[in-house]
Amino acid sequence: MRRLLVAGNWKMHFTVPEGMRFAEEIRPALEPYAGAVDIVLLPPALMLWEIAGLLRNSPIRVGAQNAGWEDEGPFTGEISPRMLAGWCDDVLIGHSERRQLFGETDEQLNRKLTAALRNGLDVILAVGETLEENEASRTEEVVTRQLTAALYGVAPAVPSRIAIAYEPVWAIGTGRAATPEHANQVMRMIRRLLAKALSPTRANDTPILYGGSVTPGNIGSLMEQPEIDGTLVGGASLKADQFVRIVEATAASVVASQG
Ligand code: 13P
Repeated sequence: MRRLLVAGNWKMHFTVPEGMRFAEEIRPALEPYAGAVDIVLLPPALMLWEIAGLLRNSPIRVGAQNAGWEDEGPFTGEISPRMLAGWCDDVLIGHSERRQLFGETDEQLNRKLTAALRNGLDVILAVGETLEENEASRTEEVVTRQLTAALYGVAPAVPSRIAIAYEPVWAIGTGRAATPEHANQVMRMIRRLLAKALSPTRANDTPILYGGSVTPGNIGSLMEQPEIDGTLVGGASLKADQFVRIVEATAASVVASQG
């Protein structure tokens, strides 16, 4: 059985004291669900160490929103996966904002993913098409290219957990989530690609998340889809009550599917 996963991507929000207060506030409300759902907070790099410290004895996981492809060297402004290894659980790779606003290429993302795995980090790999690509019926082509390129050379038996987040760019921060049926269809294709790129067993064990305008209002219908193993949440992860409700509904979907 795949474990469900909910990740909160804080993007570039909160000062260090604000982020620490938020993590302290949300921790007791999230912990009761950690048995049923993997919960990951993705704070900005500057406060990651402090927040990992606050969550040291908690089942809540922490992850970086980005990391470079070398372990060390002359890379001003970058953080390396070696710096994260041993205390940070996850790293998000390939978010569309990194691709679009910071020009990250498929080749660079493959190197970043490989470097994260080499350092024993678990990975959330984000893929997704733009509105223009979606309207031109190029979703399958774009997602196939992004996924195949990112996973190039990855050994099927690599011990780290690699989760895939399908985030259609047109659904991010727009209030216009993909329909659960659209998301499920693309995710089914992603699972087929994973079987080819890694192995059928690995594909079956890989959590595939949906991201893009996830709210307490639409989480229930998303989690009814068989291929959706959780969500990557942006805006709603900055509101404690909303994020807790999303995690709670995700945990409830486990109970529903077993009952
Ligand atoms: P929103 O939930 O704000 O649409 O953001 C999604 C996202 O980009 C998460 O990584």
